[in-house]
Amino acid sequence: FSLKNYNTFGIEAKAKQFVAVHSIAELKTVLEENKSQKKFILGGGSNMLLTQDIDALVIHVDLKGKKIIKDDDNFVWVESQAGENWHEFVLWTIDQNFGGLENMSLIPGNVGTTPVQNIGAYGTEIKDTFVSCEAMAIENQKTKTFSKDECHFGYRESVFKNEAKDQYIITSVVFKLTKRNHKINISYGDIAAQLSNKNIQIPTLKDVSNAVIAIRTSKLPDPKELGNSGSFFKNPILLKSDFEKIHQQFPEMKYYDISPTEVKVPAGWLIEQAGFKGKRFGDAGIHKNQALVLVNYGNATGQEILDVSKTIQETIFKTFGIHIEAEVNVI
Ligand code: EPU
Repeated sequence: FSLKNYNTFGIEAKAKQFVAVHSIAELKTVLEENKSQKKFILGGGSNMLLTQDIDALVIHVDLKGKKIIKDDDNFVWVESQAGENWHEFVLWTIDQNFGGLENMSLIPGNVGTTPVQNIGAYGTEIKDTFVSCEAMAIENQKTKTFSKDECHFGYRESVFKNEAKDQYIITSVVFKLTKRNHKINISYGDIAAQLSNKNIQIPTLKDVSNAVIAIRTSKLPDPKELGNSGSFFKNPILLKSDFEKIHQQFPEMKYYDISPTEVKVPAGWLIEQAGFKGKRFGDAGIHKNQALVLVNYGNATGQEILDVSKTIQETIFKTFGIHIEAEVNVI
């Protein structure tokens, strides 16, 4: 079974077996009936690089549905099943004037995988509105509700990438959104610039979403046109003391304070400075508008993209003494 249409990098890789599940009951049955089989869980396929065929039963989580489960004067609790497309879900919340997800418009992938790496963009992360998620244990099919605390969210991190890795299948997620007094966040410079270009002084949720869509469309390639997985690397976090030494040598280096002792350096800047932006090696390349994004021009293999990523990592380390870590899940 070809997985080419199930990963946004558009990599040709084969699954030994493939099944799509459309209900919790179906998921339970598939897990029960394939106890001794190796299993591989696939959501939207937007954050992985397949470097080989999958010698396992691939379970594609295709649970659909979204609803309001509770509300009060100020807030609404919405629950989405894991297989809902993230961007369509965000637009659905904005259409009803529910606030909190607008800065994360147009992120590829499905709702169920958003907690895994605490997706974020333009000053907002999933953890800011996340309440809980339901998950099924692969081993014994028991369901467990993970509270926000139990998810151990960090920058592109959660329990699902660490202690609970490969043990659970997230089946639904609950978010708490605002019904009024929305906390509009336009701290990211490009959003403010987009709004002021349009002469918008008091932006609505829709205005913010449209600004984000415009920024993303101008910088990030559409996976339908050019295979990619968004940022391939995480922005490295350095101790201030280490950073200061590097900064003396490279005074133009961009950085953001994230705590009194740590700074974050934009990996895109490092990659661009190292001369990789827009470069192409066969069908694997570095996007021309965003150096943090690796792209598949058509027939690149996962291994070819991985090789390019390693060349970038080595060069960045040699040039700046900084290690950049992949954000994408390399299979
Ligand atoms: N930069 C360059 N050259 C580039 C790209 C960036 O010099 O080719 C510099 C920019 O000038 C800017 C800085 O790097 O000063 C930051 O760039 P940008 O705002 O585009 O964001 P990013 O740090 O590259 C992160 C997230 C994105 C998210 C944006 C906006 C990570 C790994 N990536 O990228 O998330 O959309 O911020 O909030 O944290 C993703 O995770 O897949 C993703 C796209």
